Amino acid sequence: MDKIKIIGGKKLEGKIFISGAKNAALPLICASLLTDDTVTLTNMPQLSDIKSMNALLETMGTKIDEFNDFMDGHETKTYSYRTQKFDSLVAPYDYVRKMRASYYVLGPVLARKGHVELSLPGGCAIGARPMDIHLTSLEQMGAKIEIKNGYVHADIDGRLKGAHIIFPLASVGATCNILMAATLAEGQTIIENAAKEPEIGDLITLLNKMGAKIEGINTSILKITGVKKLNGATHKVIADRIEAGSYAIAAAITKGKIELVNAQPQTLQVPLKILKSMGIKIEERENSIIVDAQNVNFEGKDIMTDYYPGFPTDLQAQFMALMTVADGASLVTEQIWENRFMHVPELLRMGANINVHGHASAIVRGVKRLSGAPVMATDLRASFALVLAGLAAEGETTVNRVYHLDRGYEKLDEKLKAVGAEIRRVSEAEDE
Ligand code: UD1
Repeated sequence: MDKIKIIGGKKLEGKIFISGAKNAALPLICASLLTDDTVTLTNMPQLSDIKSMNALLETMGTKIDEFNDFMDGHETKTYSYRTQKFDSLVAPYDYVRKMRASYYVLGPVLARKGHVELSLPGGCAIGARPMDIHLTSLEQMGAKIEIKNGYVHADIDGRLKGAHIIFPLASVGATCNILMAATLAEGQTIIENAAKEPEIGDLITLLNKMGAKIEGINTSILKITGVKKLNGATHKVIADRIEAGSYAIAAAITKGKIELVNAQPQTLQVPLKILKSMGIKIEERENSIIVDAQNVNFEGKDIMTDYYPGFPTDLQAQFMALMTVADGASLVTEQIWENRFMHVPELLRMGANINVHGHASAIVRGVKRLSGAPVMATDLRASFALVLAGLAAEGETTVNRVYHLDRGYEKLDEKLKAVGAEIRRVSEAEDE
């Protein structure tokens, strides 16, 4: 298994190209299951999660073509998806176990074919992650749902029926799944308390290009008027706000200056506001963000994760890494996931001063310097937090289990090396 080795203490300077958003791309890929026409997605990131989703769709009968593309001198991928006929209506355990977002096949396949079987994802490192909202909403739309042998079996007689659905909480996954299902339902569906993350706006934009009738983009009330058939479309995936936020912190924690090319500042307003309040200079441009922390002694600030547009839970671990070397204390509160402080024991091993209180809050008291250590994390964003800590630490940090990073950070070592980090990927064999 590959590892990342970092010699810390280098100031990062230069430009980093922000890739297409993983969490937008995954539901967009599944939207292609709603039509027998071709859906083409450009600005696709090269990530193992995208490969896993492509492999799942291929088992179901989707034909996928891959093309190399260039954007602002950077290599990106374009994929075309065409599902004329289904070979299978099953999302097997082996796929869902590896990637929870496999559940995005549920709504589209059920709406188009009237039957789908999806392995239940089970727990994961950051929480229990139930799917109750997805399932009860589909039942409200007339689906018959049964759980058998670890699988959800969903059936409908004819078409799904439009319904007035009020979500108990603004789940991202349930919003995408019910949106996709409702596009082909009979009549009108209203989703109240829908999630408003930019990735959902991207999905709505593609679905409307495909002929869906969805109103209320970027609001918490979505109105979907079902149509009988959807057509193909071409769509450019939005920039990854979590990747951009992660590299913004790489600039801050190394007291460097990085331009995040292609980043969309409007999708990162709360994290950018916090960086500014810490004393870090932020310049927001139309298609980029410049983060300048040169000669800044930044102060710790409190953060509390929340649904969009609140502070994203997917940037909590990275901000905590930054707070470990800030002046003073910061209170970090996690409201979305019940078990998302897995990075704390590893940061402690690097010399951080953090006290976790219960499951939801942690006090971080800034230290002068972290020191490098072998570390590992159990999820994607926590792994990146350890990379950040390694960039700031004295000496060598080895981040194990790089496969977590490969799920969500495209060419991370190359991108960081290009702005001056001393970082390399080593295979287990090389390391011995
Ligand atoms: C998505 C993101 C993930 C991010 C999360 C919150 C993708 C592929 N993943 O995950 O990176 O951390 O949004 O921004 O886009 N819940 C229920 N019942 C349900 C569904 C969710 O109780 O049926 C709970 C979850 O346990 C969690 C909270 O709701 O506590 C948020 O979950 P949700 O918004 O659904 O997250 P995901 O879509 O899985």
